[in-house]
Amino acid sequence: MDQIVVQESRALQGSIPIAGAKNACLALMPLSLLTEEPLILTNIPRLSDILTMEVLLESLGTQVTRYNDQATISLSSRRISKHLAHYDIVRKMRASILVLGPLLARAGQAIVSLPGGCAIGARPVDLHLAVLEALGARLDLQDGYVRATASRGLIGETFTFPIISVGATANAVMAATLAKGTTVLKNAAQEPEILDLVACLKAMGAQITGEGTRTIVIEGVDSLSGARHEVVADRIELGTYMLVPAITQGSVELIGGRRNLLADFCRKLEEADVLVTETPRGITVSKEDERIKPVDVTTAPFPGFPTDLQAQMMVLLCRATGVSRIEEKIFENRFMHVPELVRMGAEISIHGGVAKVTGPAKLRGAPVMATDLRASMSLILAGLVAQGETIVNRVYHLDRGYEQVEQKLRGVGAKIMRIRNK
Ligand code: EPZ
Repeated sequence: MDQIVVQESRALQGSIPIAGAKNACLALMPLSLLTEEPLILTNIPRLSDILTMEVLLESLGTQVTRYNDQATISLSSRRISKHLAHYDIVRKMRASILVLGPLLARAGQAIVSLPGGCAIGARPVDLHLAVLEALGARLDLQDGYVRATASRGLIGETFTFPIISVGATANAVMAATLAKGTTVLKNAAQEPEILDLVACLKAMGAQITGEGTRTIVIEGVDSLSGARHEVVADRIELGTYMLVPAITQGSVELIGGRRNLLADFCRKLEEADVLVTETPRGITVSKEDERIKPVDVTTAPFPGFPTDLQAQMMVLLCRATGVSRIEEKIFENRFMHVPELVRMGAEISIHGGVAKVTGPAKLRGAPVMATDLRASMSLILAGLVAQGETIVNRVYHLDRGYEQVEQKLRGVGAKIMRIRNK
């Protein structure tokens, strides 16, 4: 397995291009199942999760064509030849559940493996199933699969999510576009990835209002056309790289970033005494001295502080002068980066979902283990400010969600390299 080696790197300067959003793509690609016409997506990131979704869609009969710029993809589901999302694919990527709604809406049937848990939590899919059942689907759970049918098509309904779920909102919106009648989704997710999904669906002819609020209304239509859509910038990659100048006392422009993708995160950076400036091309983040102010963070659904930036923010707060508290309220096990950061000299204690971070800690390089996608980036950020060398193992986690990490960080002066092991 590959390793990434990071040496202490101070005052990083320059610019980093932000790629298209992985989590938007993983919901946009299944939209192809809703139409016989080609769906063309541009600004696609080069990530292993995207390849996994390509393999899944091809197994259902979708024709996938990558243009030679590698950032444009054409998906054509003229015929859906299979309705089975196999465990071997789903277990590698939970977002495979996002083919369930579109398959039901287009073909009236779907057999999708239940994804099972992952490192950060049990991550059930009960809300996905509940909303599809409310739309008239008949669901049978057996042998680790959900067998869903809607022989007479889906029927519009009003449904209130008991908790806010990005994926369940996406599945429900996709399914409702071809249902008969009106669907009203209450307590829906407002993430920018949902807005991007709805923008593409509207370009395909869907009738949707209320996106970006907690209530989304979908008027079912008989069919959808193809479309061409540019994937929104990845706000999690954006936030991750915004921390690089903050942690190393540098100045970096994040090309393609916009403040409205991460308003709460930007406010927290400013509270910590980091300068955040929107520019015509993106966002510039700079920090001249080492004085970081401690701040308290609680993760929440958008527009709150993103859970996907919690591990990365913790590294900045290890360098703050004083005590910060980070409360993780979305997932039950998302502090696995803590023991690795403590091994590097961080002073962090966890009590009931709250991490107490005391700084400024002098971090020392060490061999560390990536445990999940976002935790792996927090270890690289820590390596940038740790004395000596940090070796991050199991970087396959990283490759799921960050393209060309070494190249992007070397581009602003970081001392980082990948060791390719057989
Ligand atoms: C999406 O996951 C993202 N993944 C996650 O990013 C992100 O952390 C999460 O949203 C929250 O923002 C993709 O978009 C592919 P949820 P999702 O449904 O949709 C519980 C990354 O690092 N829940 O909003 O699976 C769930 O357990 C990944 O890129 C149920 O109980 O998240 C969690 O506690 C990690 N039942 C909470 O809701 C359900 O049926 C929010 O989950 C569904 C979710």
